[in-house]
Amino acid sequence: MAESMKGLHRSHRCTEVSNKNIGETVTVMGWVQKRRNLGSLIFIDLRDRSGLLQVVFDENDVKAEGFAKAETLRSEFVIAVVGKVTKREAAVNENLATGDIEIRATELRILSEALTPPFPIEENTSSKDDLRLKYRYLDLRRPNLQKNLILRSNVATLVRTFLAEEGFLEIETPVLTKSTPEGARDYLVPSRVHPGNFYALPQSPQLFKQLLMCSGYDRYFQIVKCFRDEDLRADRQPEFTQIDMEMSFVDVDDVIDVNERLLAKMFKESIGVDVKLPIQRMTYKEAMDRFGSDKPDTRFGMELKDVSDIVKNCGFGVFTGALENGGSVRGINANGQGDMPRKKIDALVEFAKGYGAKGLAYLSINEDGTYKSSFAKFMSEEELKALVDAMEGKPGDLLLFAADKNDTVFAVLGALRIHIADGLGLLDKNQFNFLWVTEFPLLEYSEEEERFVAKHHPFTMPMEEDLQYLDSDPARVRAKAYDIVLNGTEIGGGSVRIYQSDVQEKMFEVLGFSKEDAYDRFGFLLNAFKYGVPPHAGLAYGLDRLIMLMAKEDSIREVIAFPKVKDASCLMTDAPNVVDAKQLEELAIAISKAEETTEE
Ligand code: AMO
Ligand code: AMP
Repeated sequence: MAESMKGLHRSHRCTEVSNKNIGETVTVMGWVQKRRNLGSLIFIDLRDRSGLLQVVFDENDVKAEGFAKAETLRSEFVIAVVGKVTKREAAVNENLATGDIEIRATELRILSEALTPPFPIEENTSSKDDLRLKYRYLDLRRPNLQKNLILRSNVATLVRTFLAEEGFLEIETPVLTKSTPEGARDYLVPSRVHPGNFYALPQSPQLFKQLLMCSGYDRYFQIVKCFRDEDLRADRQPEFTQIDMEMSFVDVDDVIDVNERLLAKMFKESIGVDVKLPIQRMTYKEAMDRFGSDKPDTRFGMELKDVSDIVKNCGFGVFTGALENGGSVRGINANGQGDMPRKKIDALVEFAKGYGAKGLAYLSINEDGTYKSSFAKFMSEEELKALVDAMEGKPGDLLLFAADKNDTVFAVLGALRIHIADGLGLLDKNQFNFLWVTEFPLLEYSEEEERFVAKHHPFTMPMEEDLQYLDSDPARVRAKAYDIVLNGTEIGGGSVRIYQSDVQEKMFEVLGFSKEDAYDRFGFLLNAFKYGVPPHAGLAYGLDRLIMLMAKEDSIREVIAFPKVKDASCLMTDAPNVVDAKQLEELAIAISKAEETTEE
């Protein structure tokens, strides 16, 4: 039976009680972690979000009725305890913040009883993910998740304080809005009042923050939910949170400067990590050439080397063929992996194929200087030596080569590099390597749409020196866009925006939009720009990704209170779900493929 807490006030959280309180009477409330009976003594580990505290019921201190009640306590009962703080006589627990004290109870109230939880509420559970997510409210009681959400809250507070001090205003933008241009699929919300019309949930507040710059708010930020209907991964959720910002009268360096100081403060004050400023910068081209990725993990080497020139006349058709087709041959040197068994190398080849490779050529250098290789027989001694020298190969090394279109070579070796490093335990979560990647291409060609699409979004400013190529060679134009990368994860990205209508019109033309199309979609922004617009630029972080890395987790699910699973559903609430026929009718919506909307 649930007792009332009438007359009691919690005086401390569990770990707020310390040896400074010895002799005082305190009132604590929380969940029973564990009960142990030792004859005339009952020990309870009491848990709240701050941690654990030991409570002792001694037949001599507490009334008989209270002692009997204590005997009925089970895991996850919610209780209130009044008692005296004393020094622990035995079994001091050095692992607990409150390990040298205990509460000797004088009063106990059972505020609510609990069923046996479907999995134990404890640190580092081995329970299945699906079960944890179905009972997320129980999972959230575990110290790991509590630590993560507390960290997340602390970081949000630091961001707000820092940005407010820097003159940023926190302004909310609408959630029911019109399609935004970030390139993913929109989540749509049907309008009842306008049958057949839909709002789109924002993929980001991009257009609104630019409008706020037009309106003179000069420094804006928002910690804001964004929605993107894309395939889920460990670092992607359909709804996620951005720390979004925009600034007027600035260029690339101004945005980078504020953000470096913000990052330094966030990391120092939340997890005690010093961020060395200035953060290294690398152009997109250099990132691709050296790491095969636009978000390089710089915690380890194993950089890509272009060996096209060295193999261009060799006898290995796979290499020369790729070069004749306009591609390249590049390799990585997995230092010290020369004795990798054939089976493992075959697994690497399969891994590479998953990234579009037709194969992966390897050469391992034996300790005696001879080679074991899938292609050595096609090459002369001199050719092999030149290749090994170019790769700085030493006895004991394993060299891996991809020959293909550049995009494929980068994708394959970029992924392989991370895969191998992961297997070797080189991805140290205690190391935080930041990197700005700059000068992204403005456009990329979409085979699917058979036209150029904006790599960042259509409002991103081209670099002045490349404007001349917008017509003649659009692929060559670089953008004033930058990403902030941490340990191989893109934690944020932004750009300087176009504010001149002639450049914007040109941009739409290159993207294949007619003037009408452009005004149809973004007219409100284009019109706003006619009434006086300051030069502006901005950036948005993925807060979930940032916290995931700070918390040393592998998935953003571990830092989101109520996340979704791979198929974008919520195992706890069963969303998405069918709705009443009446609701659909009001919205003038008919389901054409009913079977797809019913539960599986
Ligand atoms: P962008 O699309 O690069 O830029 O998004 C900014 C950051 O948001 C994070 N992110 C995600 N996190 C979790 N799940 C997702 N599905 C997801 N998608 C993106 C990433 C990314 O770096 N309006 C621009 C910013 C600007 O130009 O100012 C924008 O949204 O960490
Ligand atoms: P094949 O001629 O297809 O039997 O391939 C000979 C060797 O070259 C095998 O070890 C393949 O894995 C490798 N290989 C095939 N295609 C490529 C490629 N595009 N890049 C690198 N190696 C390849």
